[in-house]
Amino acid sequence: MDIIEKRSSTRLFKSADINIGTLKQIISAGLTAPSPKNRQPWEFIVIVDKKKKNDLANSMKIEIEKLLFEKPGRKDIKASLDTIEIIRQAPVLVLVCYVNNMVDIHDDGVNWVISAKDVEAVEIQSIGAAVENMLLKAEALGIGSLWCADVLYAYNSISQFSSFPIISAVCFGYKQTHSTSPSRKNIDEKCKFI
Ligand SMILES: Cc1cc2nc3c(=O)[nH]c(=O)nc-3n(C[C@H](O)[C@H](O)[C@H](O)COP(=O)(O)O)c2cc1C
Repeated sequence: MDIIEKRSSTRLFKSADINIGTLKQIISAGLTAPSPKNRQPWEFIVIVDKKKKNDLANSMKIEIEKLLFEKPGRKDIKASLDTIEIIRQAPVLVLVCYVNNMVDIHDDGVNWVISAKDVEAVEIQSIGAAVENMLLKAEALGIGSLWCADVLYAYNSISQFSSFPIISAVCFGYKQTHSTSPSRKNIDEKCKFI
């Protein structure tokens, strides 16, 4: 089966570590992603230290519980606590940072009709490509992954690790069980050939 079809989100990881060489192969795959004018507007903070990651999970849990206390009934906030427990259990957590100080390089004399926000969206598309490259490389190496945006519910806890905005995170680890992806809408619904 093709790696693209084989990949699915892993939510149950073995405790076995991933060696640094293998992790570097995964991150390097991310670094090969295309980006606007090759700006590479990303930085990855790779947390392998178990105590640091566990302390972070504790801090995120407290932050999210506080948020949930303020907004009871918010299912999305409650569900994010599950993601935090997955992060606690995964051997590696990569924080995905948006290096947002390069956009004025974009101001190259062209009368851009798009707003600064659109430029930001362009940068962020390339970070998505970098993350997907990592997920696929991990799959090719037999390693599971979970892309986690739920960390954004605990922004104070994660922000200690980077001076740049953190836009998501990814867990990596060997899979405890093989999961299957939920089904996708078909091509006729999602694509128009004109
Ligand atoms: C940007 C992004 C953020 C995500 N955040 C979370 C998350 O915080 N927690 C989680 O359990 N899954 C998260 N997911 C995984 C999605 O739920 C999953 O990709 C989707 O349901 C499709 O399943 P599949 O990855 O197995 O194909 C995220 C996926 C993406 C692309």
